[in-house]
Amino acid sequence: MKDQYKFPAGFLWGAATSAYQVEGAAEEGGKKKSQQDILNIKPGLADASVASDHYHRYQEDVALMKELGMNSYRFSIAWARIFPDGVGAANPQGVAFYHNLMDELIANGITPIPTLYHYDMPMALVEKYDGWIDRQSVADFEYYAKFVIKEYASKVKYWLTINEQSIIVQYWTQKCLIPEKYLNNAQIKYQINHHMNLAHAISCKLVHELVPGGQVGAALGYSPIYPLSSRPEDNMAAQNANDLRNYFYTDVYFKGHYNKAAFTYLEKNGLAPEMQPGDEDLFKEGYSDFLAINYYSSDVATVAPEDAERRTSGFNPTGVKGQMEGFETQPGFYMLGLNPHLETTDWDWAIDPMGLTFLLRDLYTRYDRPLMITENGMGAYDTLEDDGTVHDQYRIDYLKEHIKAIKHAIDDGVEVISYNPWSFMDLVSTSNGFKKRYGFVYINRTDEDLKDLKRIKKDSYYWYQKIIASNGTELD
Ligand code: BG6
Repeated sequence: MKDQYKFPAGFLWGAATSAYQVEGAAEEGGKKKSQQDILNIKPGLADASVASDHYHRYQEDVALMKELGMNSYRFSIAWARIFPDGVGAANPQGVAFYHNLMDELIANGITPIPTLYHYDMPMALVEKYDGWIDRQSVADFEYYAKFVIKEYASKVKYWLTINEQSIIVQYWTQKCLIPEKYLNNAQIKYQINHHMNLAHAISCKLVHELVPGGQVGAALGYSPIYPLSSRPEDNMAAQNANDLRNYFYTDVYFKGHYNKAAFTYLEKNGLAPEMQPGDEDLFKEGYSDFLAINYYSSDVATVAPEDAERRTSGFNPTGVKGQMEGFETQPGFYMLGLNPHLETTDWDWAIDPMGLTFLLRDLYTRYDRPLMITENGMGAYDTLEDDGTVHDQYRIDYLKEHIKAIKHAIDDGVEVISYNPWSFMDLVSTSNGFKKRYGFVYINRTDEDLKDLKRIKKDSYYWYQKIIASNGTELD
């Protein structure tokens, strides 16, 4: 009988970050502002101006990655560091920064896995034409992607295109700077997504053309959706929700067209994106080699009456359990809710390791393509003890169960390439500053006080070190 639960030789173990959440130096080294440098200015919360100061300390950070045993690192390239004005002349200091980072990684045996776009549209393009809302963004993204893919082709095999289109649609006003005149127009978010689909497909084509042996895929925020009960109506609602929240993206990546039921629902409700002839041909030409998944939790769906009020996903702004602001409702299609069978994090995210096995099995069966895990993790309040330690057993418990879940999927025959949990180090959370931490490495700062930004290994760092060293066999 074959070995149970074995990670393949050469499995990529690592961790993940994104540019604006760790780099800092928001207006240094020739970089100009991105929309995240504006969107993250919130009273009482850390912004992107210093973040984890990775721009200045990347060598120290890579040394810590090496010591952790990582053989891969997922990060993102800041468009506005390469092209401060979005297009035009490249910024030599920005280009050099990512060369230096990649060289440092490669010299330490760490495979670089860059993401081309992680929420940070250059402000210049937001000011010029409202960013992703305008189709010109696709051409400008192509200009950026072509430059970057060519520039780093010899150093990068695995390319990630756009981070979490699904989350950008759900939290569009937080992920994109949207002018007030569009705020009540929910069609815009599907239009933004359509432009991103085109940008994704173009990037895939570029990797295939410019990188010998290059592999490319999107990094999608993905929560499988279960029916709230065994009632047929709830099962139908779950299917509707999976179609609109999940397969709406993956069908474009792998089948080259929108999910039929989801698109029909959008059309009937005046929400469908405007398309041009040839768009779906481009989707097909820009095929993905793999799918990268960012997995934190699962969702449940139930029936939404035709006259229910349409609303987007809420979030918990306080980190006190039970304060989720509300759940997405699509009238006549589905309504999300709380899963009574699952524990949650302090921010009300359901903890569901089996959901990871479930989605890996489902997606591999649907599309027959390998998968990467490019995010997974536990956002929590961490405490730096007086003796300089951080005891994050809750994070170890969370990660351990999710790694077991990946092993189950592999044992069931699913091809999984990598595991890059979120996050390598503490960073600016998308909505909770430095209060909510994810890292293996603690960054000694708070929202209010930059302190010394010292890097401190948490208990989870030492635990993960053993997991990687044993290729995932020594979990208990
Ligand atoms: C993912 C994003 O959605 O979730 C990351 O790609 C983000 O950028 C992560 O940080 C965790 O979310 P949050 O809101 O807790 O920071």
